[in-house]
Amino acid sequence: MDKRLRVLLDLLEEHSGEYVSGSEIARALGVSKPTINRLINMLRSRGFIIESNPRKGYRLVSADNLANAELYLADLEASLDYRVYYVEKCISTQDIASALAEQGAHEGTIVLAEEMSGGRGRLGRKWYALRGGLWFTLILRPRVVKDAQLLSLAVGLGLVKGIEKHLGTKTSLKWPNDVLYDERKLAGILVEGKIESNYIKYILVGIGLNVNNEIPAELRSTAISLKEIKGKSIPRIPLLRSILLQIDHYYVTLFEKKDYEEILSEWKKYSTTIGRTVKAVTIDGRIIVGKAVDVDKNGALVIETSHGLEKIYAGDLEHLR
Ligand code: BTN
Repeated sequence: MDKRLRVLLDLLEEHSGEYVSGSEIARALGVSKPTINRLINMLRSRGFIIESNPRKGYRLVSADNLANAELYLADLEASLDYRVYYVEKCISTQDIASALAEQGAHEGTIVLAEEMSGGRGRLGRKWYALRGGLWFTLILRPRVVKDAQLLSLAVGLGLVKGIEKHLGTKTSLKWPNDVLYDERKLAGILVEGKIESNYIKYILVGIGLNVNNEIPAELRSTAISLKEIKGKSIPRIPLLRSILLQIDHYYVTLFEKKDYEEILSEWKKYSTTIGRTVKAVTIDGRIIVGKAVDVDKNGALVIETSHGLEKIYAGDLEHLR
């Protein structure tokens, strides 16, 4: 997309729902009024809905309507060929993505829903997915099983970076991949997949990010939304764009460049787990209490206990202090 178009679109998105005057646009882009008209028409021809008013200027109709996501993502310069499959309501995007992946959906397919009635979280938990959040599943088809072990950390990094670059909000990562703000959960990631004789058929990366959605009363002390953090509603599609670009960056870092060190060192920079006293419950029910000291090259959490070092590959984690 032409750079001036991008700047104009960003400006209209920032004022989402409100008019931006012709003179403000002229100042921001350094162009004349007839050029603005031409650029606005170019955006319209790409499917953006822009209203104009001779006195007030121009207004972009919803960068928050997820049904428009495909349009907004069409020009994304990413190595993954992202394509959106939007549904307004569903039980879980993981189920739809799994059916699509079985039918051969290509890598980069995103199943995006406005609302889910049976959203799934890690460890068999329920995930509340009311209207206003970002709930989506990304289908990936990496080849090497070994590299996939760091995928869940890499996607967590993509999320925190995407949020930070777009909104300037710094969040942190709780092992393995919860995104926290002020120790409250902002986003969660569920990685599921199908592996046949050491060959990955597909991986489903489910991402749930609290954006403008209500947080159910019972979760308010432990969960938070971006709307609460920023004190205003956030248009979701530009945010999704930013997150997908960052996930793409770490996907390339992991599967193409195989730069595991970048992922691990970046992950540790954003980690709120390292250095904390933690209680882990492993998949087989063992309880391990100690100080989280590192994440190893396979993405396992290393805990220093009174009996020595223990490694956790999967399970539930609580920060105690
Ligand atoms: C967690 O427990 O922290 C993981 C939450 C994952 C939620 C997302 S929302 C989109 C996708 N579809 C689901 O049913 N779950 C994941």
